[in-house]
Amino acid sequence: MNDKELIAKRAADQVTDGMLVGLGTGSTANCFIEELAHRSREQGLKVTTVSSSVVSAVKAQQLGLSVLGFEQVSHVDLYVDGADEVSPDLTLLKGQGADLVREKLLATASKQFLVLAEASKLVDRIGQRFPIPIEVMPFAWQLVKKQLEANGGQGDLRQNSNKNGFAISAYGSLILDMNFDAHIDMETLNSTLNSIPGIVEHGIFYGLATTVLIGANGQVQERKPDSLYG
Ligand code: A5P
Repeated sequence: MNDKELIAKRAADQVTDGMLVGLGTGSTANCFIEELAHRSREQGLKVTTVSSSVVSAVKAQQLGLSVLGFEQVSHVDLYVDGADEVSPDLTLLKGQGADLVREKLLATASKQFLVLAEASKLVDRIGQRFPIPIEVMPFAWQLVKKQLEANGGQGDLRQNSNKNGFAISAYGSLILDMNFDAHIDMETLNSTLNSIPGIVEHGIFYGLATTVLIGANGQVQERKPDSLYG
């Protein structure tokens, strides 16, 4: 079992009967969906799920899990997802996929947000390896870009994978991939991005993770934000 599978299994073991579980998107979330389906099949675990993406919903359904439509859900017990970066204060960078809106909704609504990260995802600061994805209303992208530049951001619209057009998010937004000064404080940047009109959602998940499971060399380390210990 590799580190990804190990943390996914550990997460699936935390699910209990009757929970409504939010499913993430990406290779780590896929491992979790498989483990959850395994527990449901082999141990009779009774869960309902809601998915952050169409691709994860289809996978969950194919594995026999019950999947609710997003609009049917008014609470979530546990959301389990991967991340692109995790900083020491457990701020996350997400959204290299194109499903930021549902991911942020689940992370905010869920009683617990359990993040699964291999050690390679740990960074000193958010934005170290990837630009920060910022979904914008298509007609607003130039005005938003100007506001971001006024706040020290540099970047441009994400291209599609064929490099012959712009990438479109799951809900029809364009995506600005922006780099900011290495010393910028994430609480401040999060508030700034939350307040700029025309931004639909962005990839900084500040103060949302309740637990992070880190997998390294066959071991699992559990981290919680400092505030949860106090
Ligand atoms: C999806 O939009 C992202 O937020 C994912 O959580 C992230 O890309 C992690 O993917 P992997 O588990 O494949 O690394």
